[in-house]
Amino acid sequence: MSLEQTHETILVLNFGTQYLQLIARRIRECRVFSKIVPHTITAEEIRKAAPKGIVLSGGPKSVYDSDAFQCDPAIFELGIPILGICYGLHLAASALGGKVIATEEREYGRATLALNDAGIDCPLFRGMPANHQVWMSHGDHVAEIPDSFELLASSESCPVCAVRYRTRPIFGVQFHPEVVHSTFGTPLFQNFLKEICGCSFDWTMRDYAEQMIVEIRERVGFGKVICGLSGGVDSSVVAALLAKAVGSRLSCILVDNGLMRKGEVESVEREFSGHFKTDLHIVRAAEKFLGELVGVIDPQEKRRRIGREFITAFSGEASRIQDVKYLAQGTIYPDVIESGGSADAPAATIKLHHNVGGLPDDLEFELIEPLRDLFKDEVRQLGLELGLPESLVWRHPFPGPGLAVRCLGEVTPERLAVIREADAILLEEIRLAGLQRTISQAFVVSLPVQSVGVMGDGRTYENSVAVRCVTTDDFMTADWTAMPDNVLRRISTRIINEVKGVNRVVYDVSSKPPATIEWE
Ligand code: XMP
Repeated sequence: MSLEQTHETILVLNFGTQYLQLIARRIRECRVFSKIVPHTITAEEIRKAAPKGIVLSGGPKSVYDSDAFQCDPAIFELGIPILGICYGLHLAASALGGKVIATEEREYGRATLALNDAGIDCPLFRGMPANHQVWMSHGDHVAEIPDSFELLASSESCPVCAVRYRTRPIFGVQFHPEVVHSTFGTPLFQNFLKEICGCSFDWTMRDYAEQMIVEIRERVGFGKVICGLSGGVDSSVVAALLAKAVGSRLSCILVDNGLMRKGEVESVEREFSGHFKTDLHIVRAAEKFLGELVGVIDPQEKRRRIGREFITAFSGEASRIQDVKYLAQGTIYPDVIESGGSADAPAATIKLHHNVGGLPDDLEFELIEPLRDLFKDEVRQLGLELGLPESLVWRHPFPGPGLAVRCLGEVTPERLAVIREADAILLEEIRLAGLQRTISQAFVVSLPVQSVGVMGDGRTYENSVAVRCVTTDDFMTADWTAMPDNVLRRISTRIINEVKGVNRVVYDVSSKPPATIEWE
């Protein structure tokens, strides 16, 4: 039986927002099962699915455009609670007799929401102060609300920020409660789910794990699966899921691409053998990968070549294992969205994540990507549910293209050796300072910059490295970590003293956005 048959469900109709998975995630955080469906779903299909509520997502179009995404207007007659967010609000308002127009200037960023008396009394805003911060991102607004609607809130630049239908459980908000900068975003979802939809909050990550295992079993049947293992939390969680779902029909393949951190291949091998009882293959392909990277400077080209080699290494090893049909990968949602999103939700390409963008069209395997809808912290939760050890689950993420994207300019064995040594010092100092969990990701980047220094009585002209430490919940946005001075000092002193060829360490104080976490 599917989760929607066994659990109270909220359907999220997708109108193409960048924040689609954030909506689904906020609902999951409230322990309610949510399912994303195309905006073309009919009212009849929804009635049959019998969800507890419906969310109409935001989207890039304007409701008055001739090619605007519409929904079946009969959904407003179903009596099922509806929350329209941004475009979803415009859609409900215009379908029910209101008017939506373009704003003079696109509003993007924080705003103060002011609830009126009706808003203060409305269950959607229960427990919230009359004025609070919300996150706006829109180019249109509701200029006239239908008579059947009641205004609940405004902001300085947007008169219609929240409305409700007077006699039906239909609500709309102009702001984005799914974005963390909306201070009362999660309480708003909680109120919608509890006060308006009457949900009983019965869904857990264990249900998700069980459902994934059932779905993988159904899909794979008696087929064989290979799984790429990198030692990071994502691929380990995928391996654990697959191991539970298909047992001995899973073979894990670790490609030693020469771009891993110090001691990483050995530690993955050790941890893997301790926790999984499936087949592990290690492909020694460092020379091949490094050969492909000679003279390559462009980050996207590095990713493409590594992605290609990765698949070649995989296919080669897989051909030694008989009858492999599926390839399981630890692609998570931020990888998907930053690699260009899906057809339903087109988003700008930020980076070609090698496990998404670099796959060739003639891939011989069918892909299994069970974490595609999850954010990093949810993957960790899932890992704990599956019984993985905390040491593995709390590992910092490591990008598929490895140290290549931390070696700015050409990747050479000498520069990789420098990063490995410096990185090991950084991680050791962070561990000793007890900062492993406070910092979400920490690493060293080799810069293609030489600078003058003085050592003893002599002049040096040597390499520079950057230390990058960030704190984040979901890796979509991140703050640079304000490290204690003494820890930073030790890291810098040790790197300069112990790593040959480095005479300068800089600390990266850029947040994401506008920077990204990795430098390439
Ligand atoms: P950015 O640099 O895009 O990184 O802010 C967000 C998170 O993703 C990791 N990352 C990757 N992971 N393949 C991966 O599997 C990749 O190509 C890749 N590039 C970045 C990065 O380390 C951070 O955790």
